[in-house]
Amino acid sequence: MESTPLLEVVNLTKYFGGLPALADVSFRAHQGRVTALIGPNGAGKTTLLNCLTGVLHSDGGAIRFNGADLTGLPPHHIARLGISRTFQNLRLFPRLSVLDNVLTGLTVQADASFLRGLFRPPALRHQERRLKLAGLEALDIFGLADKADLPAGALSYGDRKRVEMARAFVSQPVLILLDEPVAGLNTEETAAVAVLIRQMRQGGKTIILVEHDMDLVMNVSEQVVVLDGGRKIAVGAPEEVRVNPLVLEAYLGRMSPTA
Ligand SMILES: Nc1ncnc2c1ncn2[C@@H]1O[C@H](COP(=O)(O)OP(=O)(O)O)[C@@H](O)[C@H]1O
Ligand SMILES: [Mg+2]
Repeated sequence: MESTPLLEVVNLTKYFGGLPALADVSFRAHQGRVTALIGPNGAGKTTLLNCLTGVLHSDGGAIRFNGADLTGLPPHHIARLGISRTFQNLRLFPRLSVLDNVLTGLTVQADASFLRGLFRPPALRHQERRLKLAGLEALDIFGLADKADLPAGALSYGDRKRVEMARAFVSQPVLILLDEPVAGLNTEETAAVAVLIRQMRQGGKTIILVEHDMDLVMNVSEQVVVLDGGRKIAVGAPEEVRVNPLVLEAYLGRMSPTA
């Protein structure tokens, strides 16, 4: 018997100006697994992540996470339940240090006091030390320990993508949503990210991976959900999905495999 899914998306629907960006999308994601979410540009992948994090409110359907119904919850509440994400377009503070950028991922736990903590009133020193330690640990895991004090803007694109992942990871979320984590990365950097994704999964994290890089998707995911024009057109193991005629037509047929 299959275990209860950590995440259950049921008939999720979202309209923009009368056009469906998501239409009746349903799937389940199990604890400690990687679910890839693929589909051509405009398929609704980022919209789905935005609904999962509460940035967008759906127009229909439900999202169940760890026994809770996420419908209508604000982003900070959802973050506290243990969902974090990276962004397709990097959202770092270029002049803040790499460590401080990662620490912004902890505002969830520390609430507003953390931001005050950045300016170091004495009463918060203990908490600050604890948070800093967590940040340094995340940097270490993501291979960025030696860059902690550099301004994030000084890092290579590949390193900045990993800073985003470290920031998503530092709050010890249960579910991590990665929006195109290897877009724009070279083969070597992509391989490094594949290792990090596997490492996170081995550590028990559940991951939803939005990605165009089919090699990465095939390598790291247990389940692939395919969207096209807001609809789920296929779901299954990577090896099933890659030979599904609907997917080949809708997805691979319309874009080069390297895009
Ligand atoms: N905030 C928005 N306002 C209006 N339309 C949007 C908005 N966000 C996304 N869309 C539209 O919704 C569809 C799905 O977009 P998106 O989720 O970004 O696709 P993907 O991430 O799969 O490329 C697209 O047609 C896009 O133009
Ligand atoms: Mg997108």
